[in-house]
Amino acid sequence: MKIALLGKGKTGSKVLEVATDVTVFDSTHRPTAQGLRGFDVIISFLPGDAFRELIPMLVEASRPVVTGSTGFAWPENFDHTLREKNLAWIFATNFSLGVVVLKQLIEKLHQVEHLFTEKTFSIHEVHHTKKLDAPSGTALSMKEWLGSPCEITSERTGDVVGLHTLTLETPGEILRLEHDAKDRRLFAEGAVWSAKFLYQNQLPPGLHAFQKVVERHLAL
Ligand SMILES: NC(=O)c1ccc[n+]([C@@H]2O[C@H](COP(=O)([O-])OP(=O)(O)OC[C@H]3O[C@@H](n4cnc5c(N)ncnc54)[C@H](OP(=O)(O)O)[C@@H]3O)[C@@H](O)[C@H]2O)c1
Repeated sequence: MKIALLGKGKTGSKVLEVATDVTVFDSTHRPTAQGLRGFDVIISFLPGDAFRELIPMLVEASRPVVTGSTGFAWPENFDHTLREKNLAWIFATNFSLGVVVLKQLIEKLHQVEHLFTEKTFSIHEVHHTKKLDAPSGTALSMKEWLGSPCEITSERTGDVVGLHTLTLETPGEILRLEHDAKDRRLFAEGAVWSAKFLYQNQLPPGLHAFQKVVERHLAL
């Protein structure tokens, strides 16, 4: 499987540790639609704004795409665009398996939240000081999975890979769901797994969320 890797920063560089036959594109070696056609799968760990700018070119390249980029909005009806072009892409704000389980726990919490008459939800996320977007894509996904009002706070310190805490507080108790990523290799492993999944043509055309792909694949 020939991988074109967009972005070889803190996270992208880990893709080189978990996959072979990887060609890197970055600010000094920019990708083109023509050049990308020679690859089986494209993986992006570019910052969100750089990735967003490349979307039309990536569609033109007509290859499967796995993207972990965060901090951008998808073009309107993009799932429809991909289906029209017969292309399958996988995206994730967080490629860790722990966050797949966290999603399930959050959805369970949403199902039972009526048990608590007086309650507040909050999410606190902590990342390294070089992170460009705030709140993190993972925190925004967690809020979406919860489906209830929830304040998000962000903290930037040291080289924290990614710490996310969802808190439910009532007058009598506090419940916390927490995910603490220890090594960025985790995200690269999820992205490469997704790339293999696309390479084996295991998904219909469209824009697929990594967590849903894993849930369906493992019948969780
Ligand atoms: N989904 C997940 O599991 C997950 C996990 C971690 C991070 N992320 C996301 O992944 C993205 C990257 O994070 P990171 O911490 O790895 O960032 P980073 O260390 O800053 O690396 C960014 C990379 O993108 C390249 N780049 C930047 N602007 C570019 C442009 N206009 N054209 C081509 N290449 C460009 C940089 O190349 P130069 O150095 O040559 O500019 C660098 O190689 C962020 O959006 C982050 O939130 C996602």
